[in-house]
Amino acid sequence: MDRQQILRHLDHTLPSTDYQDLGTRYKGKVRDTYEQNGRLILVTTDRISAFDHVLSQTIPFKGQVLNQTAAYFFNATSDLVPNHVIDVPDPNVTVAKACTPVPIEFVVRGHLAGHAWREYRDGARSLCGHTLPDGLRESEKLPEPIVTPTTKAEEGHDQDVTREEAIANTDIEASTYDQLRDWALALFERGTEMAAEQGLILVDTKYEFGRTPDGNYVLIDEIHTPDSSRYYYRDGYEERLEQGLPQQQLSKEFVREWLMDHGFQGREGEEMPTLPDDFRATVTERYVELYETVTGQEFEPDDHTEPGKRIHAAVQKYVQRQTERT
Ligand SMILES: Nc1ncnc2c1ncn2[C@@H]1O[C@H](COP(=O)(O)OP(=O)(O)O)[C@@H](O)[C@H]1O
Ligand SMILES: [Mg+2]
Repeated sequence: MDRQQILRHLDHTLPSTDYQDLGTRYKGKVRDTYEQNGRLILVTTDRISAFDHVLSQTIPFKGQVLNQTAAYFFNATSDLVPNHVIDVPDPNVTVAKACTPVPIEFVVRGHLAGHAWREYRDGARSLCGHTLPDGLRESEKLPEPIVTPTTKAEEGHDQDVTREEAIANTDIEASTYDQLRDWALALFERGTEMAAEQGLILVDTKYEFGRTPDGNYVLIDEIHTPDSSRYYYRDGYEERLEQGLPQQQLSKEFVREWLMDHGFQGREGEEMPTLPDDFRATVTERYVELYETVTGQEFEPDDHTEPGKRIHAAVQKYVQRQTERT
């Protein structure tokens, strides 16, 4: 996809949806969700969030990239862990089993980056109950991948917890926690292998699980997407590590960096900067690059001028077919 095509779509993005015939809408930061008798219709929009805030501008094709990246990895890991996907009736839409979300996010880290690095740099040697060796550098590989669970705090910001705290603070039993943790590690191992095949390093990522009405646990939300994961290019990784240079990232990290350079990191009183069109197009390029690199597939943009209408029609058609079948 060339830059001209992205620029032409700056005014044809999907900021939000309001499909009243599809049931009650729940508006997340990035997805609009409609519930219909036990199924969720998850529409991934072109909204972008950073530091827990939704930015005012959209990113062309971002919803499609996220949804298709997740669909690719849900499919590629379904032999390891059951997931919520029922169907993908449109590039921006996943129909999923409606679950009760487990109130713990399972963050898995293979390398020391982001928030974990900042804590370590400031002296912490214990992270969610894991003891870390001295002398690690930013981006360095950890002795083995670790799970650093978070729970939602009152404020909305996620809070690091230990396994014991996660179990004590939620209604999740120890045996269930351990099963989900082992699933998270198995998914991370698969993601690491798949990334390596494409010349990438899966640095860290986050998994969410939910319970279906019949009591089974499944992987929900998204998997190995640029919003939920960090990737580095393998090429040059060692050299950059040795020289103390930042890694070449494929993720949302560079948007966070741009925002910080413009005085915003989600703190009270800070004004959210406006993303210039040129930067919006660059973000699209980076998201598409990530999709193409991790999946090894060419991105085929759905370049309808009114994505909201296209998606509504596709979902209506899907719902219609389902009704006819039953
Ligand atoms: N199968 C599912 N069942 C129930 N909830 C789900 C399922 N898949 C995803 N979710 C939830 O739907 C929301 C997805 O929208 P998103 O924009 O990512 O929201 P958030 O702002 O909470 O991150 C998330 O809160 C996620 O936990
Ligand atoms: Mg989310």
